[in-house]
Amino acid sequence: MSDPWQECMDHCVEVTKKAGQVIREAMQKDIAVMQKSSPVDLVTETDQRVEQLIISYIKEKYPAHSFIGEESVAAGAPSVLTDDPTWIIDPIDGTTNFVHRFPFVSVSIGFTVKKEIEFGVVYSCIEDKMYTARKGKGAFCNGKPIKVSGQEDISRSIVLTEMNFSADPERFNTMLANVKTILTIPVHGIRSPGSAAVNMCLVACGSADAYYHMGIHCWDMAGGAAVVTEAGGVIMDISGGAFDLMSRRLIIASSRAIAERIAKEITEFNVGRDDTE
Ligand code: IPD
Repeated sequence: MSDPWQECMDHCVEVTKKAGQVIREAMQKDIAVMQKSSPVDLVTETDQRVEQLIISYIKEKYPAHSFIGEESVAAGAPSVLTDDPTWIIDPIDGTTNFVHRFPFVSVSIGFTVKKEIEFGVVYSCIEDKMYTARKGKGAFCNGKPIKVSGQEDISRSIVLTEMNFSADPERFNTMLANVKTILTIPVHGIRSPGSAAVNMCLVACGSADAYYHMGIHCWDMAGGAAVVTEAGGVIMDISGGAFDLMSRRLIIASSRAIAERIAKEITEFNVGRDDTE
């Protein structure tokens, strides 16, 4: 019996390539920048155009499917995960990088059915790296199998996280304190590439050993979650419990030992949920 979600994934890879081409071309031109929720939350006309391109391309073939897209949600669409086949889309993950032409910019799409992630596609379009993962079938970069480093010792690890300004002093100070805590374990280093989906793929292919973040969204995580899981990585909630796509937080790692150590070391702060804001 043919795999209906594999057909969706093939369609997804096609539209993701087209989206990457649009982003690369836009990066050669002037970029008009707009603010969303704060002076450090940026959006461009390209984010909106690419999301429309992706959704209309998918809707042509799958008109009954549901969508959660970063820019559609910003424009007032609901952000609630149902049992329907659902495409979770970040048209440009790394918008600040895009604006600065810092070369980690990705298109990230995850696809869920009955709230389970069936596949993920992350296209790091400046590097021209297409990460793909279908549930139970492994993870790939440009068609070649990838796997996590397998590192178990956090003191031999590169850990990724992102540092974003927050006007809430408690949240901001806790974020900085967490960085200090992880650095003083000590680890080999902390890095911040600036695209959550790329971060997840860097762990998936063994270039980094872990990534943690509080305050991201389901569209930042859905594509990469499939890739890192299929590459043999561990994904969990910041508390050490089960990963929840709508929780706005995650730890991923090359091994359970490292993920659990990060969960033990860092302090949580409240970031709300995607489905209740
Ligand atoms: C952002 C990136 C970045 C993270 C931000 C996200 P966006 O996504 O993933 O790494 O630090 O929290 O909002 O807004 O460029 O799609």
